[in-house]
Amino acid sequence: MPALGDPLRIGAATIRNRLYRAPVLEGAGDGPDAPDAYARQFVPNARAGVGLIIQGSACIYEEGRTSPGMTLVHTRERVLAMAPMVQAVRAEGAAIFLQIGHGGLYAMEAWHEPYASRRKGPLLAVSTVPLALRPAFRGVPVHVMTTAEVRAMAERFGDVAAWAREAGYDGIQLGSANAKLLDQFLSPFYNRRDDELGGSVEARALVLRWIRDEVARRAGEDFACTVKVPAERGLPAGRHITVEDALRTCELVEEWGFHAVTPVEVSPLPDTTLSRGGVPRSLWRNEAMRRRLRSASPRRVRRWTLLAGYTLGGWRSPFRPVWNRELFRAAKQRVAIPVFAVGGIRTPDEARAIVEGGEADMVGLGRPFYAEDDLARRFLEPDAPPVGPVLCENSNLCVPAQMLGMKGACYNPAVARKRAELRRREAG
Ligand SMILES: Cc1cc2nc3c(=O)[nH]c(=O)nc-3n(C[C@H](O)[C@H](O)[C@H](O)COP(=O)(O)O)c2cc1C
Repeated sequence: MPALGDPLRIGAATIRNRLYRAPVLEGAGDGPDAPDAYARQFVPNARAGVGLIIQGSACIYEEGRTSPGMTLVHTRERVLAMAPMVQAVRAEGAAIFLQIGHGGLYAMEAWHEPYASRRKGPLLAVSTVPLALRPAFRGVPVHVMTTAEVRAMAERFGDVAAWAREAGYDGIQLGSANAKLLDQFLSPFYNRRDDELGGSVEARALVLRWIRDEVARRAGEDFACTVKVPAERGLPAGRHITVEDALRTCELVEEWGFHAVTPVEVSPLPDTTLSRGGVPRSLWRNEAMRRRLRSASPRRVRRWTLLAGYTLGGWRSPFRPVWNRELFRAAKQRVAIPVFAVGGIRTPDEARAIVEGGEADMVGLGRPFYAEDDLARRFLEPDAPPVGPVLCENSNLCVPAQMLGMKGACYNPAVARKRAELRRREAG
């Protein structure tokens, strides 16, 4: 059986070990300093030994980001600007994938006032807005994508992948979970199309095949092309992606030539089911976040809808260690391509058990990297200091920051205190 420290081949990429930084939005934004902002987070991660970094979601179109902190990768120049950062990460021995996607209905042009008032076109949608969501979308223009527009989008994914390869990235991951546009294609809650992209699981997933073909054509068959596959649970009621749908989609993406898959359980809404844990209280307790929320959403009704969504999402999804285990373990039984585990993995013992037990091939952590940039050492050298539990408390205080365009970082003061204490002990 493989060990956590063993290398793994994914397409043309060789990953030096089985530990990866899951995509957590870095808040690097879109300015000329974005590459440096990424480097400040990723280079220390790489230096501490992490095998792979998956850069948080970047947007393939000029409109469609879910947060002002997201980076645009809609032109070759934008992607090539990342090359020095990518080289710096690779010089430390880590591989780096770029996650690419689009927010669809949840693009910030829907709710973030400064962007909503300047938007150039309607929001891109898979089908008309689901009935349960219509009150929240009142007055927001929505355009249901034609089949030809979906083809064009697949080509754009292919172009961005080719530019990513040129910039030195080792691969891409599709941002196809967490209620983003590609997830909206996969989900029968959103997708009620009557063309070849709607209906059965195979039809709803077809967009992934089109993208895979364009990535292979433009970036090369062997350029690592990986994908997240969601299963949906919880409110709002309606048709969801079942576990069986998700497992079937894992089989399909393998058949279509994807190099790896990350199965995750989420709700159909963009809430904190993607990062189970506390209710993100920083949204109303942290003054900087409160201010940003007020200017992003000056209308009280919209602001309260956002607050209610985050609160309910938090209540409904308490932390559970390794919460995607059943799903990634089942996916591992169904496909031969590497399966990535993520979600609530917090100890070296858990990580080792997943890899050595053949439950998944790569083990990822998200939020704990915000709290400790040298986190990889805890997992790869568990007897060297610092020993003990990771500092992250799963409070989700980091979540509103990423939505409001602030730096991707830990915002929990208790964690900051623990980190300072650790540094003091190390120095003394
Ligand atoms: C602040 C924040 C930002 C995130 N951004 C992304 C993202 O850009 N793309 C993505 O696929 N998942 C994103 N996620 C989900 C993480 O990749 C990960 O699946 C989740 O946090 C669970 O892992 P953890 O318990 O180790 O944090 C984000 C999560 C958080 C908390």
